[in-house]
Amino acid sequence: MCGIIGYVGDKDSAPIVMAGLRRLEYRGYDSAGIAVISKGRLQRRRSVGKVELLSKMLEEEPLKGNVGIGHTRWATHGKPSQDNAHPHTDCGGKIVVVHNGIIENYIEIRERLQAEGHKFSSETDTEVIAHLVEHHLKRLGSGGKALSDVTEPLFFEAVRQTVREMEGAYAVGILWEGCPGTIIGARKQSPLVVGAGQGENFLASDVSAFLERTRKVLFLDDGDIVLLNASGIKLFNVDGKKREISYTNVQWDQTMAEKGGYKHFMLKEIHEQPTAVEDTLRGALLPLDDKTMKAEFGFDSEFVKKIEKIQIVACGTAYHAGMVGEYVIEHFSGIPVHVDLASEFRYREAPVRKNTLLIAISQSGETADTLAAVRENKKNGGVHTLAICNVVGSSLTREAQSTFHTRCGPEIGVASTKAFVGQLTALFVLALHLGVARGRLSADEGLKYAHELLKLPQFMRDALKLDGDIKAMAERLAQRGHYLFLGRNANYPIALEGALKLKEISYLHAEGFAGGEMKHGPIAIIDEGMPVLGIAVKSQILDKMLSNLQEAKARGAHVVAIVSQSKHKLKGDIDAELAIPVTDEYFSPALTVIPLQLFAYYVAAARGCDIDKPRNLAKSVTVE
Ligand code: F6R
Repeated sequence: MCGIIGYVGDKDSAPIVMAGLRRLEYRGYDSAGIAVISKGRLQRRRSVGKVELLSKMLEEEPLKGNVGIGHTRWATHGKPSQDNAHPHTDCGGKIVVVHNGIIENYIEIRERLQAEGHKFSSETDTEVIAHLVEHHLKRLGSGGKALSDVTEPLFFEAVRQTVREMEGAYAVGILWEGCPGTIIGARKQSPLVVGAGQGENFLASDVSAFLERTRKVLFLDDGDIVLLNASGIKLFNVDGKKREISYTNVQWDQTMAEKGGYKHFMLKEIHEQPTAVEDTLRGALLPLDDKTMKAEFGFDSEFVKKIEKIQIVACGTAYHAGMVGEYVIEHFSGIPVHVDLASEFRYREAPVRKNTLLIAISQSGETADTLAAVRENKKNGGVHTLAICNVVGSSLTREAQSTFHTRCGPEIGVASTKAFVGQLTALFVLALHLGVARGRLSADEGLKYAHELLKLPQFMRDALKLDGDIKAMAERLAQRGHYLFLGRNANYPIALEGALKLKEISYLHAEGFAGGEMKHGPIAIIDEGMPVLGIAVKSQILDKMLSNLQEAKARGAHVVAIVSQSKHKLKGDIDAELAIPVTDEYFSPALTVIPLQLFAYYVAAARGCDIDKPRNLAKSVTVE
């Protein structure tokens, strides 16, 4: 995820901003930049790659001044490049902006400003903010006043008008040459914090960026706009009303601050999942029309009508997302879907049909087997490859004809969690677009499902409230040697994913099965007290799943059922239940996976495992 640091005070800002950027490196990024008001002029340096490269650039061309902002960028709109790196400026280079989040209506704003004569120099959504502030400054400062006459209240008003026009999520830091001692920050749905120091103040995306200089922190709320100068901090809401400031004295050490107070990145990322889904849905879902589908997936309904088969390739957790995709796409669109492990597909000599859409799913976009499968398909004359990927500019996105970007932010824990729900979200959105384009869903039905999808983040937040119950349960069950996970239909892959998560981080033996398959062999391994975690949420075949759990219980298993928050017939026959909100059966995997991720996490924690860096595993598998 991108990182922001801003400094205003009596010291030279560049070294402090650069130290902040180094502290933010843990978040993952692909480029970095800094802007300082140096001798009354705004100047910036930007570079692709590591903060160290930016540092070398500054050694050659230093920046001096008491006010500065910096940014580490994780690309969401536009490839990682110097032009796309933050800070971004207006036409005259007098305003600079750093931004985390996604401006949903940036295309609309950019087109409007271009028509007014604004010149854009990047592919980012962020750049519109600088131009919009410029636009409002001109408008508010018109009537013969030169821009340099406009002072802090006008800067504030221009920013306030700007953020009122922005839809989506943002945390921004803005500097303007015309008001050289002030940084303005604003937030909506993306975190932004202020650090109050002695004769110096800070703005940052998280406290780790300035923790070594102050622990007195103001956590901004949605809609807040904050003005920082060397001597003080002023807080307003988006209506321009002054707000009381209440500081928190943060006790975290640096490592805890990086993990947002969570013990491990994996736990932090599990809790970030509602936001990951919200961000991935942003702009991608509605309206379910050709324009949105083309922009997000790179094809239109004419192409969709020709598709005879969809072939999905992926590895590990991404493969499980693909398996859910098979159920969901077939259900909503009626298009036959085949899913393969990329490592198998590349050698399988699968016959390529003319009108096959290949979907390659990968968090990193660098997985060797997935890349090879895509190349193999191309060689054999496959028609179109769509990548579903979390890393803009990765090898996979360069190989594929089009890419849907999951907007989950960098995933640091080796065990994939938030990227998985991002992949599921991408597949849900795709399935609805395909369903409407193929005429299997009417426009109204599509809309109804889309609205259900939009409720998922809140449902996920509710499911995360099970954290404490699951921790207690996991601690009780952590010393068993073998674990079974059962699911059916779209939740069968979630049983596999639950087992994979447990294996990866706790090194325990776990297996996932489709409930109906138990009697064909696996049921033989059940013995007294063996934990069996079954997914028994609202579904057309819930009764069948409940019978499968009863069969396990009858053989002495310790049965934990993940159920919908509604009545079911199993009461009394199970040892524990975890109730999650009710959603459409085909979207439920994004919810049912949460208790299983938490279970794996707390079992591994109880066993003292190195959760973020499990033995023998790497985050990105770039070799075969
Ligand atoms: C499991 C996990 C791996 C990855 C797999 C594919 O938690 O992280 O199974 O899902 O190695 O990686 P990507 O998605 O980067 O292609």
